[in-house]
Formats: sequence, C-alpha cells, structure tokens
Amino acid sequence: MKIVVFFSGTGTNLKSILDHQNKYGYEVCACFTNNPKAEGLIFCQEYGVNCKIIDHKDFDDREEYDGLINSFLENLNPDLIVLAGYMRIMSKPLIDNWEGQIINIHPSLLPKYPGLCTHQRALKAKDNVHGSTIHYVTSELDAGPIIRQESFNIEPSDTKESLIDKVKNLEHKIYPETISSLIK
Ligand code: GRF
Repeated sequence: MKIVVFFSGTGTNLKSILDHQNKYGYEVCACFTNNPKAEGLIFCQEYGVNCKIIDHKDFDDREEYDGLINSFLENLNPDLIVLAGYMRIMSKPLIDNWEGQIINIHPSLLPKYPGLCTHQRALKAKDNVHGSTIHYVTSELDAGPIIRQESFNIEPSDTKESLIDKVKNLEHKIYPETISSLIK
C-alpha cells in the first residue's frame, strides 16, 4: 500500500509515519512540501524518500499550483494522501479528483477550533479537554467526516507549548494506526 505524505514544517508526524512503515505494512512512496525550508525535509533524506518541493510563493494562481500537485499524484497513483502539517488550503478540483483518499490531522477536537491557533483557543476558553482529530479532507476547511478523535485532560499548569507537545505525542501514535486501518 502506497501513501504520499504532505508537510510544511517540522515534520514530526512525518517521522512517526516513516518509523511505523514496517510495523503497519504501508510504504511512504514519496513526500510533498510547499516549503523549501521545511525542517521535515531532513527526515526524507534520512529515510531515503523522494520529496517533491514546489514553493507556493512562485505561483499567484492556486489552481495552477494544485494542477502541478495533481500531476505529481497521478504519476504516483497512491492509495492514500496523508496531510501531516500541510499548511496550504487545497482547491476543490484537486480535492474532488482524490475524493475519499485525502486525510488530515488537526490539533483540536473538531468541530471545535477549525483553522489556526487551536491550543491558545482551548486555553482561552478554559476548556477541560483538548486533543486531535483525523478526518477526510473535503472542500470545507477542517470539516470533513471524522475518522478518529482522541482527547486528554488539560491541567492547570498547561501552556500553549505543553499542549503542542501533548497533542503531538498523541498524534504520533494515532496517525500511523489510522493509516494502517484505512489501507487494509
Ligand atoms: C500537528 O499538530 C498537526 O495536527 C497539525 O500540524 C502539526 C504538524 O506538526 N496539522 P509536525 O510538522 O508533524 O511536527
């Protein structure tokens, strides 16, 4: 089973997905990033996985940019497209072309806090729980059907930074597990 992982930043979820390939029987056949400076590129090098880099800043037109992504995906024909901290909105034609095959992980208990700054928003609202959600990608931002959601209690001592760490620790476990469950 072949998967492609999209990322934009630190790529710790990418690393965890790569680490679990043998255990869960999927293969990361390639990666994609919009950010030539993404720290996660180091993991592609370490694991010998090809990463296609197309800087979105070189494009004014989102559909033209996403057309290149579509060609990249059509050449690979992956079973699953895994967004792991990919910080670009995908256009409807691209999403429609791969309907049901694109998943995302979002650092909140959706439908709470779609979009950015989820940890700060949970703290500001004095929430008792926080967590992460894996969902199918549709053209409505962070609103596709939920596949899996896991939560933990927010402690009085928690800060934005501690919540980021707690969410990521959770994600590093549940994302590879969910990928494995979807491709079997
Ligand atoms: C994760 O918390 C994920 O939920 C969100 O972006 C973050 C990516 O972190 N979509 P990393 O790049 O995998 O370290």
